[in-house]
Amino acid sequence: MRRLLTILCLMAIAGAATAADVNAGKTKSAVCAVCHGVQGLSTLPNAPNLAGQPQIYLAEQLKNYRSGKRTHEVMSVIAKPLSDQEIEDLSAWYASLQIVLRESK
Ligand code: HEC
Repeated sequence: MRRLLTILCLMAIAGAATAADVNAGKTKSAVCAVCHGVQGLSTLPNAPNLAGQPQIYLAEQLKNYRSGKRTHEVMSVIAKPLSDQEIEDLSAWYASLQIVLRESK
């Protein structure tokens, strides 16, 4: 019984370590806001909007910059020190932002 509890606790800890934390991502996104905007709507003409993009897509792009599979003079440097957890948190934060579209007439 005790062993089972230990295993369950370890699983809970492991789960917590990999689960994306939107609030942590929001906090970490302060460094991204200069270019991608406070809420993921870009403030630079050459930086893409991140708000509302799928979490899987964002995480994949950040991992690609980190590994060198995708390169960009700025993003490669920014993504290099990010941990898997930070990438998941940041991606979860931007994916959690909802975009409303309106057609211009
Ligand atoms: C100095 C400006 C700058 C900062 C700071 C910055 N970015 Fe970027 N980011 C860019 C530019 C420019 C691109 C487009 C790069 C390209 O063409 O590949 C980009 C691209 C991206 C993409 C790919 C988006 C797509 O649609 O494919 C992601 C994801 C991203 N940035 C996340 C972040 C995160 C997360 C941070 C903060 C940890 C951050 N960026 C900080 C300028 C910046």
